Amino acid sequence: MKEQLTVLKNEALAAIAEVSALQALEDLRVRFLGKKGEVTAVLKQMGGLSPEERPAIGQLANELSEKLTEAIAARRAELEALFLDVRLGAEKLDVTIPGTAREVGKQHVLKKTLDEAMEIFIGMGFTIAEGPEVELSANNFDKLNAPEAHPSRDWGDTFYFDQDSQYLLRTQTSPVQVRVMESQKPPIRVVSPGRVYRKDEVDATHSPMFHQIEGLVVDKGITMADLKGTLNALIQQLYGAETQTRFRPHHFPFTEPSCEVDCQCFKCRGAGCAMCKGEGWIELLGAGMVHPNVLRNCGIDPDEYSGFAFGMGLDRMTMMRYNISDLRLIFENDLRFLRQF
Ligand code: PHE
Repeated sequence: MKEQLTVLKNEALAAIAEVSALQALEDLRVRFLGKKGEVTAVLKQMGGLSPEERPAIGQLANELSEKLTEAIAARRAELEALFLDVRLGAEKLDVTIPGTAREVGKQHVLKKTLDEAMEIFIGMGFTIAEGPEVELSANNFDKLNAPEAHPSRDWGDTFYFDQDSQYLLRTQTSPVQVRVMESQKPPIRVVSPGRVYRKDEVDATHSPMFHQIEGLVVDKGITMADLKGTLNALIQQLYGAETQTRFRPHHFPFTEPSCEVDCQCFKCRGAGCAMCKGEGWIELLGAGMVHPNVLRNCGIDPDEYSGFAFGMGLDRMTMMRYNISDLRLIFENDLRFLRQF
């Protein structure tokens, strides 16, 4: 029995030394030391021994079982260390390898100017109102007091959808005035940015699609002084507190009186330069007191209420603000251009 234990010991130690996987090691433990294991089997035979032999063999068997337990634990520690090394090697991160940079987008320069303008208007108590780009002629022209023969209604200038010229791509943001007045009661104070369309050939200052910001204020007792104060405040916030403005008489069918508003050239401060074509002034927007016919067309009594309106070109504003010489650059979406802003 002593020899049996020695054979078992050598066999077990050799197997433990050779094993290279944790599961195989666990299998060995079960095979030798488990309840039905080989060492246990030897111990079970001890009943057949003489009382003299029993203590010595018992001790030997216990020693063997301890030795194997130790050997297994040691091998387990060895294997675990080895696997950790292998894993660390495989997962090693070389932080010096150049990474792949992610492109971060940014706001389009038009949207930047728009946001700045909206911020100013919201600060003055305006809310934003939007209207559709496909409009009724009635809203784009008739209710805005543009007579049947008005040149802007010409097929050569406007994109119509039907023979009867009922539906069109709006030529201005002014039809939003109509929509707002028909759906809200005064006091009204809205701005309305959006795309507009005209049959223009593309060049450095024209595009068949461009952007306007419309403004409308209707309340009791609104006068031209309110119009001037509001627009001066806007322009001074956009272009600096010292910026001079000029209100020139003009004509729009839907305002009376009407004016165009210029600001002193913010590049040469009025001296005359390439930007203002030597004028010292830059045309910024159209404006006027809402025509009584327009108020009436939209269900508002002109004897009780008055209002002012203005419309400005967002694309032009952007070009002037960022010194952009060609309108096409804004719409071509060449990233080399857009990244600059
Ligand atoms: N809608 C006019 C245009 O496109 C601008 C404007 C708006 C003028 C509001 C006066 C009042 O030219």
